[in-house]
Amino acid sequence: MIPGVDVDSIVYLNGEYLRLADAKVSVLDRGFIFGDGIYDVVPAYSGRPFRMDDHLSRLERSLDSINISVDMNRSDWETLVAEMLHRSGLSDCMVYIQVTRGVAKREHAFPKNSTPTVFCMVAPFSRPTEEERNQGLSAVAIPDIRWLRCNIKSVSLLGNVLAKQAAVDAGVNEVVQFRDGYLTEGASSNVWIAKSGILLAPPRDNLILEGIRFGLIEELALQSGVQLQSRQIAEYEVATADEIMITSATREILPVTIYNGKPVGDGRPGEVYSKLREGYDNAIKNLEQA
Ligand code: PDD
Repeated sequence: MIPGVDVDSIVYLNGEYLRLADAKVSVLDRGFIFGDGIYDVVPAYSGRPFRMDDHLSRLERSLDSINISVDMNRSDWETLVAEMLHRSGLSDCMVYIQVTRGVAKREHAFPKNSTPTVFCMVAPFSRPTEEERNQGLSAVAIPDIRWLRCNIKSVSLLGNVLAKQAAVDAGVNEVVQFRDGYLTEGASSNVWIAKSGILLAPPRDNLILEGIRFGLIEELALQSGVQLQSRQIAEYEVATADEIMITSATREILPVTIYNGKPVGDGRPGEVYSKLREGYDNAIKNLEQA
């Protein structure tokens, strides 16, 4: 028994499709020992992956950035995602892919001949509820204490784990992190603000994970006539924003209506959010009907 997990679900591990209960990784796997690996999360609706190309490009970028070379090309990754979705039979779900540097004697530097461990699982996910969409989320500001390569989707997530626990401890849904007084991102989401109808996002540099929603929101903003600027955003600008929003594969786009215990704007989801949310819902409808 693993709380909350279906041990009979099918997972992929190093070329084999297995019951989750039968999938085993060595204790010397560098993912376990050092957090030496990367991952990605591809959302799917009605069993169809959403923006898979972007996710697989980021997966390949993450692998390159830490010099892991896997014997899988783009079409192999696509086949894996399709096969996992098919075997799971799930409708709205997320496909989790993880690659570590593999099993080796415990020495920090890269081993010479390790074979990467490739793992994939699919888990059901619930789209944001009406309550979350209409009432919004709560968030608090915290300092960003993570490393300087947050652009890599690394499985070394201790900083993010501590950040998310800080949200739980504060009784809110998400944290908004700041480094040197400037907005970075949430514990597991990107953060956006709107001021006077203009949508603002922090620069896509090494201090944040560039969410796949970045490209999507850019497209949706263009479609709905919302001006988007990418620049450093100071802490006071977030505190005085008309709107705050978060995006991620699983939360799509959601408004933050309570920030540091105070209402954001008039305390209700704003106009910029509503336009982007409509575009997001349409993009999913188009995927389902394609
Ligand atoms: N996390 N920033 C961080 C730190 C994240 O962990 C995530 C998503 C994002 C948003 O990225 P995307 O739009 O590609 O989902 C930004 C995933 C969902 C996770 O770790 O489960």
